[in-house]
Parts: sequence; C-alpha cells; structure tokens
Amino acid sequence: MTQNLADTSRPAATPSAETSTESSAANGAAGRGWWRDAVIYQVYPRSFADSNGDGMGDLPGVRSRLPYLRDLGVDAVWLSPFYASPQADAGYDVADYRAVDPMFGTLLDADGLIRDAHELGLRIIVDLVPNHSSDQHEWFQRALREGPGSPLRERYHFRPGKGEDGELPPNDWESIFGGPAWTRTEDPDGTPGDWYLHLFAPEQPDFNWENPAVADEFRSILRFWLDMGVDGFRIDVAHGMVKAPGLPDIGGHDQLKLLGNDVMPFFDQDGVHAIYRAWREILDEYPGQRIGVAEAWTPTVQRTANYVRPDELHQAFNFQYLGTSWDAAELREVIDLSLDSMRPVDAPTTWVLSNHDVTRHATRFANEPGLGTQIRTPGDRELGLRRARAATLLMLALPGSAYVYQGEELGLPDVTDLPDEVRQDPSFFRAEGQDGFRDGCRVPIPWSGTEAPYGFGPTAGGPSWLPQPAEWAELSVEVQTGDPTSTLELYRSALTIRREQADLGAGGSVEWLETGEHLLSFRRGSFVCTVNTGAEPVRIAAPGRILLSSAEAVAVDGETVLPADSTIWWAV
Ligand code: NOJ
Repeated sequence: MTQNLADTSRPAATPSAETSTESSAANGAAGRGWWRDAVIYQVYPRSFADSNGDGMGDLPGVRSRLPYLRDLGVDAVWLSPFYASPQADAGYDVADYRAVDPMFGTLLDADGLIRDAHELGLRIIVDLVPNHSSDQHEWFQRALREGPGSPLRERYHFRPGKGEDGELPPNDWESIFGGPAWTRTEDPDGTPGDWYLHLFAPEQPDFNWENPAVADEFRSILRFWLDMGVDGFRIDVAHGMVKAPGLPDIGGHDQLKLLGNDVMPFFDQDGVHAIYRAWREILDEYPGQRIGVAEAWTPTVQRTANYVRPDELHQAFNFQYLGTSWDAAELREVIDLSLDSMRPVDAPTTWVLSNHDVTRHATRFANEPGLGTQIRTPGDRELGLRRARAATLLMLALPGSAYVYQGEELGLPDVTDLPDEVRQDPSFFRAEGQDGFRDGCRVPIPWSGTEAPYGFGPTAGGPSWLPQPAEWAELSVEVQTGDPTSTLELYRSALTIRREQADLGAGGSVEWLETGEHLLSFRRGSFVCTVNTGAEPVRIAAPGRILLSSAEAVAVDGETVLPADSTIWWAV
C-alpha cells in the first residue's frame, strides 16, 4: 500500500507506545508492512555531518540533519556501523556491539537520535555485523591470551596450520580483501601457533556460529538495540555466518571472481537460514514492525529470495539490479527477474543503485559498461549525471522498497583521484593497489558554503577525513535547494509524488507497454513511466500528463520528445 502525505503508518513518537497487535504475519500478504514500499536512506556516519569539527562525522551531526531527511521525503534511515571499533574496516570491525565509538558520540547520542527520528516520523535501521568481530573484541583478545585449548577459541575458527611446522594456512580460502583468509597467531610463550579465519581483513576474525555462545550473544545484542527503539537491522554479510563442515578447500585461486556465481563453502550455506528464523521470532516479539534486511551475495536471485521467506528476514538487497548497465533490455530483464523471484515468498523487491561499497552510479554510468562496481576513471560526468537522474526516477517508480545512498540526491560523482596516502579502505592495501577503491564513494558530503568542508563540519577551512573536491561547492544542499533543475529538487519532487500517487510504492508487478529499441515503458494503474536509455531523443505519443521528468521534455505536434538518457513519469 502506498503512503500519502498524511500517512499514518509512520512510526509513533514513542515506539514502545505503538500497537503491538500488528504482528508481522498480519502485515505480510495484505501488503501493509511499512517496509514494503519504504524509501530507506543510507547514512554513512563518518561522512554525513561532523558536529565537533574533528573531521569525522558523528551521531550528533546526523541528529542535527534529521529534519533534512524528513523534508527529503524518505521513510527510514539506515546507519552504517557507529559501534566501538578500531576502524580497521571503517567500523565493520566491531569491538563492542553495545557501545558507541567515542569518535561517533555516546549511547545517549544514539538514544537521542532514535527519539528525534521517531518524532519526525522517520524509522531507524542499524547495521549489525555478525559474521566477524574486531580482533580487539574482548572474546578474541582473551582467546589469544589464553592460548590453544581455551574455550573462547571455539567462538572463532582457530585451526592448526598445514606443513611440517604448521607454516601453511589450514585451507586455500582467500580473503575478500585479498591475500589468504587465514592469519597465524603467536602462542602465549611467543612461538608460532594456530591460524584463525578472516574472510575480510585480518583485523576481522570470523565467528564460529556453530558455537552456542555466539548465537546467544547475538540474540542478546538484537534485544539490546530493539530495546533502544531501533526499527530494524541491516545484516552485514548475511550469507556468511555458516561455513561448510570441515572447511573444505576450494581448489583454485582468484576466488573473488567466483563470488556471486558459484556456491562457495563460506557463503550462502543453507545453515544460515536457521539463524534468521530465530531472529525473526525476536523481531516479531517487539511492537511496531521491526525488520531485518539481508546483505546477501548469492549466485542467483532465487537463492536471495530464501533470505526473505515469510519466517525469515523482511528484505534483501538487490545487487543484481545495482550491477545492471544503463541498457533498456538488460534493465527490463533484471526487473522481471527480481519481481518474479520475490513473488513466491511474498517479499517486497528492493532496488538500489549506490552504497558505501561501490562506485557511485553517477560515475558508473559515466563510464563504459562492464567495468564492474569499482571504477577509477571519472568518465563523462555530464552523461553520468543525466543517466543517474533517469535511473533514479526508474528505480523510484518500480514496485517495492528503494535505497538511497547519502549524496546521490546531490548527484555526487565518485572521487576517483584520491591520493593513495589518504585512502583508508583496507582492501586497497591488501590488494596492493589493484582494487579497493571504496573511499571514492565515502567522501564527506557538501552541505553549504564555498570552502571545504562545505558545512560537513562546523568551521570553514576545518578538516574532513577524506578531502572533498573543489567542485563540490557547486553541489551543496544549499546551492541546490530551490533550483528546480537541481538533482536535489528532482529527488524531493519524486519522493513527494511517490507518496501522493496511490499506484506507486508497494506491489509485485508492472505492466510493460510496447516501445522501441532503447526504451522502457510500464504502467502501474494510473501511472506510467517511460525511459530512454539511448543516446538519441525519441518522439513518443504522450500517454498522459507529465508528472516529472529527469530532463527537459518538449511537446512537438502532439507528441513528446523523450530526451536521450531520460525518464518521464506520467499520470494517465
Ligand atoms: C559489507 C560491508 O558493506 C563492507 O563495507 C564491509 O567491508 C564488509 N561487509 C565486511 O564487513
């Protein structure tokens, strides 16, 4: 069901006061769950707003900008991790799951942020990182200190090495960030000891989910944040917690290339689903429709659908869509596939174009297709922005829930020329500069003013943890506000229309309309979306009245010219 401007499905000011009779089962088939059509805005706390001028974004900064998000028209905010962490992987290495890192603020700040968000009608989703902890987590540190035989070692994957002196890793698994997925430890007496598994950086040891203490701990962590009032969790590496018995070899190198296509012994194992069934029971105990969102990379969209079966999580990211080129035929195929795969499990399809791990879509679409999601060249910026605006209108017209990554509403490109010495992405260093360009999409966003950090921090000329390009002065919220041609105003208008149009938002299908090459056109009740992914303008018979257009559309002799790389929304 689509919300309108006077929507009452927004969270109550006090979540605990919400009716507890809305069980998520009741929300399911009837399509009433708020997440079914929610637009969820991803805040990357390091780079959103810095309240104390130390160059690093923080929770008071996010809190102060919540009215901006309410006015933008999103339904919920997903915050990337702000927990106590040595920041070896920008917070995806958690040392204490129940504490806020001092760099981001305090638990009181988190509490205030959640309360303020609810007052404004925004829901809050926090990141949960259950596949691995930080190597500074108390459990891991004690496991190291206590040495072989310590029961705490059972909570991670410690194994003796192969070879005469155990000098070889226990198996051939490679880390997603490059290099072996194992690091050797030193025993308390200083001699070389066992190895431990880390699918990501060595500072991120993988938990052993076969150990009941791990499952108990995470059920308790879920309750901690649910009691704090959060409306849901984005689950990091949701497909990774269970490993194939015996940790078998894969038998080949360059394993990164196999991810997403082949079943790997460390990803998408059937055992993960029992974890989500247990978590769903917890989520359902709480009032107000709390949700779980899977970050699950699987070989097929059908396998992604397993994560959102009625007794598991509520949403899963649609990475197949994110990886699709700006091409009408390819887009139509992935849209159909996505909708078809979610229908049997009655879960909403999600749509996403950018996040903190991939090159921003304004830059992806500025480059040749087929370069993947970590691109180092700026490409044709003007073209990229035109396509990004058109792609956003397409995304927001599709049935289901959509994710917006901070700064895409400003049309920000990736920063492709960051000097090596400022980069912090751990995969950049692990892969010897061959990969790991995620810092380019993590540069602090511009709010106002003519001098860096452009309102990101309180003082002109103050620091920002990654440098912002000078051109970003022209892309700030302040500059774009009130300019009807700006990307920010396009997002604001689109999100307003999405709430007002009864036929937009939730749903499970679109009615495709016949069109020509490079064109897409579909109807949803009294709404039509037409997209031109081609390089030439195309004349079409206007199906109705234009509601919104990503580029200027001109009427000629009763027809409408659909500009190159553009999308038009129509009321019919
Ligand atoms: C996925 C997160 O989005 C990414 O930023 C992180 O590096 C890995 N998971 C490991 O936690």
